Amino acid sequence: MEFSIKSGNPELQSSDCLIVGIFEGGELSASAKGLDDISSKAVSAVVKTGDMQGKLGSTVLMHHLPNVQIKRVLLVGLGQQDTLGAKSYLKAVRAAVKALPKAVTNAGFCLTELTVLEMTVNEKAAQIAEVVSDATYQVNALKSKKPETVALNKVVIFVDKPDASQAKVALAQGVAIGKGVKMAKDLGNLPGNVCTPTYLGKQAKQLAKEYGFNVDVLDRAAIEKLGMGSFLGVAQGSDEPMRLIVLQHKNGKKGQKPVALVGKGITFDTGGISLKGGSEMDEMKYDMCGAASVLGTFKAIGELNLPINAVGIIPACDNMPSGKALKPGDVVTSMSGQTIEILNTDAEGRLVLCDALTYAERFEPSTVVDIATLTGACVVALGHHATAVYSNQDALAGELLAAGTAAHDRAWHMPMWDDYQPQLDSNFADMANIGGRAGGSITAACFLSRFTKKYDWAHLDIAGTAWKSGKEKGGTGRPVPLLTTFLIKRTENK
Ligand code: BES
Ligand code: MN
Ligand code: ZN
Repeated sequence: MEFSIKSGNPELQSSDCLIVGIFEGGELSASAKGLDDISSKAVSAVVKTGDMQGKLGSTVLMHHLPNVQIKRVLLVGLGQQDTLGAKSYLKAVRAAVKALPKAVTNAGFCLTELTVLEMTVNEKAAQIAEVVSDATYQVNALKSKKPETVALNKVVIFVDKPDASQAKVALAQGVAIGKGVKMAKDLGNLPGNVCTPTYLGKQAKQLAKEYGFNVDVLDRAAIEKLGMGSFLGVAQGSDEPMRLIVLQHKNGKKGQKPVALVGKGITFDTGGISLKGGSEMDEMKYDMCGAASVLGTFKAIGELNLPINAVGIIPACDNMPSGKALKPGDVVTSMSGQTIEILNTDAEGRLVLCDALTYAERFEPSTVVDIATLTGACVVALGHHATAVYSNQDALAGELLAAGTAAHDRAWHMPMWDDYQPQLDSNFADMANIGGRAGGSITAACFLSRFTKKYDWAHLDIAGTAWKSGKEKGGTGRPVPLLTTFLIKRTENK
């Protein structure tokens, strides 16, 4: 998909279809009015029939308007003009993309002119790119009969001349985020027998080649040398080789401490000996979505060649039951030296993350953010709308929440008070790997906090947001928009 910003009369540009807005009650947006005026009121005529009354997300496709070169005009309902906010705006854009006829290859969006509450022209342009990329996403990697592909390959976003040059910068960010989201979705959607730790390692190497990152993919022998007893414990039950993947993007100031992103890469989570129930277990192929979000974010910052130093760390393995698997009651020694009593082998995410978080210390990071489909309890707490944020620095939590709001990829700050820590007490080791039913997402964060004392750290529990279940089953690519926006803002403020 090729995106561009253009100014001037949309009617004079080559395009197969122009998209213009209509407000509730039938009032025409400026571009709709422009077309109406030259076409002897063809647009008003449609409104008068009652077929387009501006209801949010409704669409009407018009052909061959009098005196208009472009073959099609798609009217999209915007809802109430005075309350048009970002949510409605995104809904209208998505509806328009979905309503484009299959044959349209080049679409022109006349929608940045609209006054949207709390949305700048830049944001409107960037969001059009993200929504187009999201709404035209197809999973077809593994179907023998390829579904019809979307013909749309050019998107022109019309912006008033004075705003055009900055809108181009914003558009590039939106396009980069769109690509990162696509990568994260693709990886998440692949099954566990394809998207293995080895496969993730290859993807990282390919990214490194494409964007000039440094990359290291460590195998079991190297991981043993590092003394990652906790990560090794989880991996030992599986015949699938484990990997520790390390990416480095060095485009910040020399000596500037990097931001590290650490992603949970469990390529399939059966629960291990504490075996999960069978229903919907297939969805545990998504247990590497934290890793996918790290790779997707690296794709986005690579596209932008963002002036920042960043490290990506991915501990990847399967969590399987077998004769070699960890058993409840086993005690492992983490890379930090702290010992852990495994009371439930299904609480494996924290076991692979804790060693990756200790490993992160060697990069002397200013900030570490881990991303993990960590707990079912998080889904109970926040549902599928918000990612949970935990942090040992309130200011960092604030930055991540603000990035999430700006990126329309929302997060919510959860408590991580010391009061919860005793739930992790163990009679036999320094700590247990579970803290009981109460506050399950919080005690998982508390567990990780014991390995992150040396830097500012935040933990994102994406168990509820990384993928959708049911009829729309599929990866969402979240929180790539949040993470990329967070990094972009860091380059702007520091
Ligand atoms: N990957 C799961 C968490 C999960 C479950 C995410 C369902 C999304 C949907 C994680 O490894 C896990 O199994 N966590 C356990 C922890 C418990 C044993 C303390 C859980 O949430 O049940
Ligand atoms: Mn588990
Ligand atoms: Zn898991």
